[in-house]
Amino acid sequence: MKTVIVNAGPRKNWNTAKLLNAVKEGSESAGIETEFVQLYDLVFTGCRSCMICKRKGMTTPCKCYWKDMLMPVIESVYDSERLFIGSPIYFSEPTGMFRNFLERVCFPPLSYNDYSSNYEGKTNVGIFLTMNVNEEMYTKNYKSIMDQQAAPFRFLKGKTEIFPSYDTLQVSDYSKYEMGSFSEEHKREMNETQFQKDLERAFRIGREWEIN
Ligand SMILES: Cc1cc2nc3c(=O)[nH]c(=O)nc-3n(C[C@H](O)[C@H](O)[C@H](O)COP(=O)(O)O)c2cc1C
Repeated sequence: MKTVIVNAGPRKNWNTAKLLNAVKEGSESAGIETEFVQLYDLVFTGCRSCMICKRKGMTTPCKCYWKDMLMPVIESVYDSERLFIGSPIYFSEPTGMFRNFLERVCFPPLSYNDYSSNYEGKTNVGIFLTMNVNEEMYTKNYKSIMDQQAAPFRFLKGKTEIFPSYDTLQVSDYSKYEMGSFSEEHKREMNETQFQKDLERAFRIGREWEIN
């Protein structure tokens, strides 16, 4: 079994990265081969519509033929049973990097003959989202958008599940920023209580989620 973990957020030691590191520790503690990728370290774009993956007679249609730094990561994903992606929510959606990654990973397995999937493997996808809003606002305003954003991962033929973390601490010292709409006291409390539980959940997910 192999697990690929992808950070689609820019910060390497904040909420999203911390959750993904907990997933990594959980996965490794179960003896699973685990690869961690920081998308913001890679130079790549979304799908370039080169259409090579859709050409007639391709012996390997389920491959992204665009040569850039994402190419080996996509190969790794296609070779894995579990893919975990983390993204902060930016303007009510996952990051642009998340979207670029998704386009590249999900277009090759999509068949334009009948909209089925030509993927020969099965990769379960777990998505960790972090955000400023609380659970109530997420459920009311964001949940359906995120479900829609995640839908193309069905072409990897596994389960797709979203694990949200709400009301995160955005900066270490709110007094240094123009961020008057947030209560630092509340954010700290959430960080010390709920976020610690989210980290424990992330570890458990890495260790146990869809490993059979
Ligand atoms: C450019 C930008 C846009 C954001 N937009 C939203 C938003 O629409 N909704 C929300 O709840 N949080 C929003 N946030 C807050 C982040 O989602 C939140 O702080 C997240 O936990 C950051 O992840 P990180 O700590 O891993 O960087 C935004 C943050 C930035 C920098």
